[in-house]
Amino acid sequence: MQPLENYMRTRRSAVSVTLEEPGPDSDEIRRIVTMATRVPDHGKLVPWRIVLWSMSQRETMHRQLLTLLDSLPDIDDKPKKRASTDKLLHAPCVMAVISTAAEHPKIPVWEQTLSAGAVCMNALIGSNACGYEAQWLTAWYVYADEARDILELQDGEKIAGIIHIGSTNTPKTERPRPQIEDILTMKDD
Ligand SMILES: Cc1cc2nc3c(=O)[nH]c(=O)nc-3n(C[C@H](O)[C@H](O)[C@H](O)COP(=O)(O)O)c2cc1C
Repeated sequence: MQPLENYMRTRRSAVSVTLEEPGPDSDEIRRIVTMATRVPDHGKLVPWRIVLWSMSQRETMHRQLLTLLDSLPDIDDKPKKRASTDKLLHAPCVMAVISTAAEHPKIPVWEQTLSAGAVCMNALIGSNACGYEAQWLTAWYVYADEARDILELQDGEKIAGIIHIGSTNTPKTERPRPQIEDILTMKDD
């Protein structure tokens, strides 16, 4: 089996709360982002951007998001949402992949959004290529209109993924995968 096939057949995400130092330095972050953004992009619109959140920014956002969460009256399961907010503070490196997809005369928004998803996936693979573990997360605040200012999102932008990157000694176990027969249809001639 070729090394790339072996990697693709066995790769797993990490669990963000287990991620610790070392994380990528600024040169490695540039390399990861270079790999992450080498994705198909119909119309070459570059419909995404990436923001690296420093730890002090994450601490500020974390505080603001918890205050927001407490102030929201009609929101269920606040303890779980608090825990998902706390995940901002674990990994040494956290970057947001932001979809900037917008109406375009030729390229559907759906295709631009898919390209942002590809950036997230490539960020995981690029992190692994640089010797790090990574996980793609979202959280309640990604979908909360009230959190948009805290996340510094421009009109129309959406977070496609929050990529947590670092190192871990926690072994990765296999998880159930779909049977190929269940998801692949091959039509006979
Ligand atoms: C868009 C997106 C959002 C996700 N958000 C979360 C999340 O908020 N919390 C979580 O535990 N997993 C989340 N996951 C799943 C994790 O990425 C998880 O690590 C992954 O499914 C494990 O699969 P893998 O080991 O095959 O990469 C999300 C996945 C995707 C694609």
